[in-house]
Amino acid sequence: MIGFATPLLALTAALALPSLTVAQSWQDHANSTDPTFECTAYSFAPVVAMVSSYVGSTIWQIATLQTADSDAVALFNSLNSTIPKINPKGTPAGDFSNTTPTYPASDPDCWWSWHQCTTPKISGIPTDITRCPTPNTWGLTVDDGPNCSHNAYYDYLNTINQKATFFFIGSNVMDWPLEAQRGLAEGHEICAHTWSHRYMTALTNEQAFAELYFSKKAIKDVVGITPQCWRPPYGDVDDRIRYIAQALGMQTVIWVEDTKDWQYPTLNQSVIDTNYQNIITKAQNGTYNNAGILVLNHELNNFTMSEQTTWLPKIQAAFKYVTPLAVCNNNTNPYVEQGWTYPVRLLHSSPSPRSQLTSAVTL
Ligand SMILES: *[C@@H]1O[C@H](CO)[C@@H](O)[C@H](O)[C@H]1NC(C)=O
Ligand SMILES: *[C@@H]1O[C@H](CO)[C@@H](O)[C@H](O)[C@H]1NC(C)=O
Ligand SMILES: *[C@@H]1O[C@H](CO)[C@@H](O)[C@H](O)[C@H]1NC(C)=O
Ligand SMILES: *[C@@H]1O[C@H](CO)[C@@H](O)[C@H](O)[C@H]1NC(C)=O
Ligand SMILES: *[C@@H]1O[C@H](CO)[C@@H](O)[C@H](O)[C@H]1NC(C)=O
Ligand SMILES: *[C@@H]1O[C@H](CO)[C@@H](O)[C@H](O)[C@H]1NC(C)=O
Ligand SMILES: *[C@@H]1O[C@H](CO)[C@@H](O)[C@H](O)[C@H]1NC(C)=O
Repeated sequence: MIGFATPLLALTAALALPSLTVAQSWQDHANSTDPTFECTAYSFAPVVAMVSSYVGSTIWQIATLQTADSDAVALFNSLNSTIPKINPKGTPAGDFSNTTPTYPASDPDCWWSWHQCTTPKISGIPTDITRCPTPNTWGLTVDDGPNCSHNAYYDYLNTINQKATFFFIGSNVMDWPLEAQRGLAEGHEICAHTWSHRYMTALTNEQAFAELYFSKKAIKDVVGITPQCWRPPYGDVDDRIRYIAQALGMQTVIWVEDTKDWQYPTLNQSVIDTNYQNIITKAQNGTYNNAGILVLNHELNNFTMSEQTTWLPKIQAAFKYVTPLAVCNNNTNPYVEQGWTYPVRLLHSSPSPRSQLTSAVTL
């Protein structure tokens, strides 16, 4: 079997023969749909080197800024005094019991977790994207990947020629770099979902900046493009966090409909199936005749991915379009890199995989 070179061998190959030795590629990791095999950790030399250079960002820990990350520190220092003076709320695990009793009913911070505010109170910050402007469109937005076990689900999306917007967690990108590369290579749109998936409004300015900065950097370094969109974990955002995201060139994206697939097994399957069915019913009764919707889905685990494979044919039948975020916004240039043009035909999908695309990290 190709792949799974020892770190030492792979590193040697990377240093000595950068363009000749294909020790690992995303295709090698896309053949298997055995979750045990897929989720066996592997060592991908360029990413091993990268991890040690991301001084302030340990995988699955809250990102921080450290002196050695001089570019990040310089950018942060140039911004910090301009960040809205809003205090952090609650804890990074989402305990807001210290905040909610005294938080003003007027919602001065446009705190989504309070009453789903998406229109900033501070001027100069763009309104969150929650919809597909095109009527009767399901914007397929899928959080928390790349999941190591996603091959069956990505294979299925190919069979129905369906593209999605994937909100990748930086720590997952570092753990599963080849799985991240598969997402872009097959024509999906990539946005960021922070470094370690914490409640962002709980973090200091430095931490919130680092969570966004390093998730964006991980996607650039591993996949090769710079995303300009991000989604706050749990939707937890306020004007302070929106401001930091905007300063980093990232538009905040929320949703209109939540399948609540992420709450399984706390919510049983019948509840989640009912949520899917209700969204479909609304499409059929004209609820989305004036504007389409972004729907919250996940590649969190086998359940959330299997549910999509069950429901997507019905979704494609009920909605006029099922598309990534960029497609329903006619955004042909979703990334900073101008050489990369996104095909925005309004089909159930966008056209063929971008096979000519080269990833940032190759051996
Ligand atoms: C996986 O796919 C790659 C690319 O198509 C191929 O070269 C490789 O032999 C395949 N590996 C296995 C184990 O089938
Ligand atoms: C950034 O600004 C906040 C207050 O807005 C302050 O508490 C913090 O110390 C500043 N951080 C740095 C590194 O200057
Ligand atoms: C699923 O949850 C609903 C609502 O909590 C409940 O009415 C139903 O009995 C549950 N079904 C199963 C199969 O557990
Ligand atoms: C459409 O269906 C939804 C879900 O069943 C319902 O809440 C809504 O009131 C319906 N709207 C119309 C216009 O019938
Ligand atoms: C990926 O999915 C598997 C189930 O297929 C699950 O056990 C695992 O926790 C998921 N990984 C992450 C990082 O969510
Ligand atoms: C994933 O979910 C599907 C559908 O519920 C099920 O048939 C399959 O056995 C599950 N796979 C694993 C590895 O749990
Ligand atoms: C996208 O382009 C199509 C075709 O020109 C147009 O009909 C549609 O209104 C545009 N949608 C948006 C959101 O700009």
